[in-house]
Amino acid sequence: MNILILGGGGREHALAWKIAQSPLCDTLYAAPGNGGMAQVAQCVSLNAEDGAAVVAFCAEKAVEFVVIGPEAPLAAGVADALEAAGIPAFGPSKAAAELEASKRFTKEVADAVGAPTAAWARFDALEPALAYVRAQGAPIVVKADGLAAGKGVVVAETLEMAEDALRDMFGGAFGAAGAEVVIEEFMTGEEASLFVLTDGEACLALAGAQDHKRAFDGDEGPNTGGMGAYSPAPVLSAEIEAKAMEEIVRPVVAEMARRGTPYKGVLYAGLMIEGGKPRLVEFNVRFGDPECQVLMMQLAGDVVPALMACATGELSGVSLDWHGGSAMTVVVAAKGYPGSYAKGEEIGGLDAAGAVEGVEVFHAGTKAEGGPDGARVLSNGGRVLNVTARGADLAEARARAYEAVGKLDWPGGFWRSDIGWRAL
Ligand code: AMP
Ligand code: GLY
Repeated sequence: MNILILGGGGREHALAWKIAQSPLCDTLYAAPGNGGMAQVAQCVSLNAEDGAAVVAFCAEKAVEFVVIGPEAPLAAGVADALEAAGIPAFGPSKAAAELEASKRFTKEVADAVGAPTAAWARFDALEPALAYVRAQGAPIVVKADGLAAGKGVVVAETLEMAEDALRDMFGGAFGAAGAEVVIEEFMTGEEASLFVLTDGEACLALAGAQDHKRAFDGDEGPNTGGMGAYSPAPVLSAEIEAKAMEEIVRPVVAEMARRGTPYKGVLYAGLMIEGGKPRLVEFNVRFGDPECQVLMMQLAGDVVPALMACATGELSGVSLDWHGGSAMTVVVAAKGYPGSYAKGEEIGGLDAAGAVEGVEVFHAGTKAEGGPDGARVLSNGGRVLNVTARGADLAEARARAYEAVGKLDWPGGFWRSDIGWRAL
């Protein structure tokens, strides 16, 4: 069958790389794709957030399955448009995507099923919110309710920071996303993410992962989309994973079905783990980026039947094969990211990096361009490459990933040299 992937980041390159290996896949399309995805898929220009345009493309190209990577098309209802047209899609409906699009919604659902999470309150005006944080004291966490590109959360160490965050949010710094604010108890512990496939009823835990959000070594510097990740996450033991499934994931999936808005796709549960107990930090309604890259590297068999089963309600009884060992990905970003950075710089050494044993180089912000010597790869975004390696253990995966990073020739790039330090 022909398959379409929506998105063009490292997450989507890893999905495309895996899906292209499936005997079930004939032609693979990617919209918009990137310079690396062009090696495994036909990249097409199509507005991935326009449900009608996506449906029309599927009709024209006889696409029978659509995999939606990022949250924006999900929040825009692209899965709903495809379902209405009878085309199976991997990814939740707009109503179910509220689990990421609204912090308040997530907290209400968690409370409805008694899932362990931080105590919270919601406000739609500044004065009562200020009074609340003054009564609670710091540290405290202030969150814009809506999607704010990962920037709508302030972990306030002081009361002053919390008050400033509230003034910013109610002052319109995040537009409509900040018209409503959720204030949460500050949780301590170690964070890890659990990725679970679900068809709305059956749940299949994939694996845990940890990422590094800060730009620089030692977890310093500004927050980014993620500078590296590894799987499995040692802190997410089998016992804690089982607790998270029983106390958080399964009850939430059941509650979404009970409300008439079943959740289908991958549920990304951000957890805070302390004293052997997981608590919910947040949900995302998609794979993590760059966590997806390490999960796809670890997966041994065909991913397509499992993704398809989430869409068709046939996940019960499906299992997946894993390589074992560990995988790690190191993000190579453009100098200046997450602030302003240059684009259009040529990147060399990609073949040498990809030739290191156990390594795949997934592209994120790249563009392929024909040149006198054939195709050239140019930087075209903030996070540019995800150098991903598998190994017998995390130390081997890490050594391989950094060996490959060292073979790249791109003076305009930078990366963290300490991915995985917590686990090692
Ligand atoms: P979120 O977008 O909700 O995941 O928040 C972004 C980050 O803020 C999380 O990955 C945590 O590091 C931190 N965070 C969010 N909520 C809390 C909380 N209640 N307590 C401690 N840290 C939090
Ligand atoms: N790496 C974090 C995320 O995908 O949200």
